[in-house]
Parts: sequence; structure tokens; C-alpha cells
Amino acid sequence: MKQNIYDDSDFAKGYDNIRKEGKGTNANDLIEIPNFRKMVPDVKGKTILDLGCGYGENDKYYKEKGAEYVLGIDISKHMIDEANKENKVDGVEFEVLPMEDISTLGKTFDMVISSLAFHYIKDFDKLVKDIYDILNDGGYLVFSQEHPNITSFKPTENMPKGHIEVDGKYYGVFSDYNRLGTREMNWFDKKVLKYHRNFEYIINTLVKAGFTIEEVNEPVPSEEGIKINPKYNNQFDRPYFLIIRVRK
Ligand SMILES: C[S@@+](CC[C@H](N)C(=O)[O-])C[C@H]1O[C@@H](n2cnc3c(N)ncnc32)[C@H](O)[C@@H]1O
Repeated sequence: MKQNIYDDSDFAKGYDNIRKEGKGTNANDLIEIPNFRKMVPDVKGKTILDLGCGYGENDKYYKEKGAEYVLGIDISKHMIDEANKENKVDGVEFEVLPMEDISTLGKTFDMVISSLAFHYIKDFDKLVKDIYDILNDGGYLVFSQEHPNITSFKPTENMPKGHIEVDGKYYGVFSDYNRLGTREMNWFDKKVLKYHRNFEYIINTLVKAGFTIEEVNEPVPSEEGIKINPKYNNQFDRPYFLIIRVRK
């Protein structure tokens, strides 16, 4: 079954709070967004499909960078309502649609992008094949997800957190890396289901579908970002995110 946790009102309140109240100081703004945008090739005149678009910030951004048309889809009506309120401009459309169903769109695109949503998807092989089919020849897929060294962790009573701090230094807890499958975690007091896939599985799935790997990024914040939120120095110990660009 597809999970739609972003339509749970308590979860949405918590998530909106870190993204909106924490604007400019959170990990998205200081780490994921700037590094993701560096990985996206020139969008001038391109058509783009954004999977799990959330508030649609990237969609407006790429339209302003010269994309011809951007379609953002998301399983959550709450996120699409916010996207329509905040980031709807000419040439950008938003639609409630699970990314598992993109083959029903009946359109092809020059680029598929997706930020921090693929770890919610059960069947990565099918998703990657569907993306390959929906891309025009030479098209790009750029996506970020939680880094496998983060998704691997299975909390237990005696080891409840995915990291420990010793003498002020951050140490990631690394376990279950080669045990692929579901991970249940608590986020904003809700049980959230994610899928852990190791690096090998992610890369091999992309290659098997026919993609050429162009660039892989395990992002760290800029010096400026660390000044804004020194906690993110920990990205040099253990990155939260993985960003990959592949080409058809
Ligand atoms: C962490 S948020 C990221 C939102 C946005 N991409 C960003 O970076 O700001 C993950 C998003 O993925 C969406 N999502 C999760 N599972 C999905 C699915 N099966 N199909 C489409 N969207 C999904 C969620 O509703 C949520 O908006």
C-alpha cells in the first residue's frame, strides 16, 4: 500500500514547522537544496516532471531559470494545496498523483527530478523503469534521497537513535546496511515507513534500466551554511543525503 503520511494533519504540522519556521537554517535549505541545484543541468527550454514535489519550490525555481514547462506531482493533497498557494506560476502545474502512477500521465519529459521522496517508494525497480520510459532520449533523472547510511539504521530499545555524541563529536550508528527493506521510524510522533536500499542496489537498478551514471554527490554545507547552523559540520562525519544524476 502507498503511504500518504504528509496528509496526516499532525504530521503535516510538524513538517511544515521545520520547513517553514526553520526556513534558512534547516538541512534542506543549507545542504540538500543548494547541492541538488548544482547537480541539475541547464533547464532552458526543457520540460520537467518533479516527483514528490512537496511545496513545489523547485518547480517555480526551474521555471524562473528558463524551463518551458514544469509539472509537480505529489501523493499528498496537503502538499499540492500548499504548492498551488505558494509556487504556482505560469508554465508550472501541480497535480495530486502518486509517482507509482506516472505511466498514466501520457506525456514525456526532458528531465525528471525528485527531492527526498524515493525512500518512501517500495518498488524502486519499477519506478526507475517508468522514469526511463517517460524520459525523452538524452533526458536526465536527478534525484536526492536520504543517504543509505541513514536509512539502514533499525532503532532498538537499547540503541534508539541513529547517532551518538562523544566529546562533542558526532558518530553515526551504522548497522543493518546490507539488510534491505522496510524501516519504521518515529517522526513528529507518527510512525513513518521508509525503504532502505544500499548503494549497490541503487546504482545497479539505475544501470540495469539503461541509465548512464553521470554524477554522484554526498553533500556537505558551504562554509556560510556552517556559520548559519554549526550543527551541520556533522555532514563531514556522516552525510544525511545522497544526490544522483543519470542520463538516458
Ligand atoms: C521530504 S518531502 C520533500 C518534498 C519536496 N520534494 C522538497 O524537497 O521540498 C517528501 C514528499 O514526497 C511525497 N511522497 C511520498 N510518497 C510519495 C509517492 N508515493 N508519490 C508521490 N509523492 C510522494 C510526500 O507527500 C512529500 O511531499
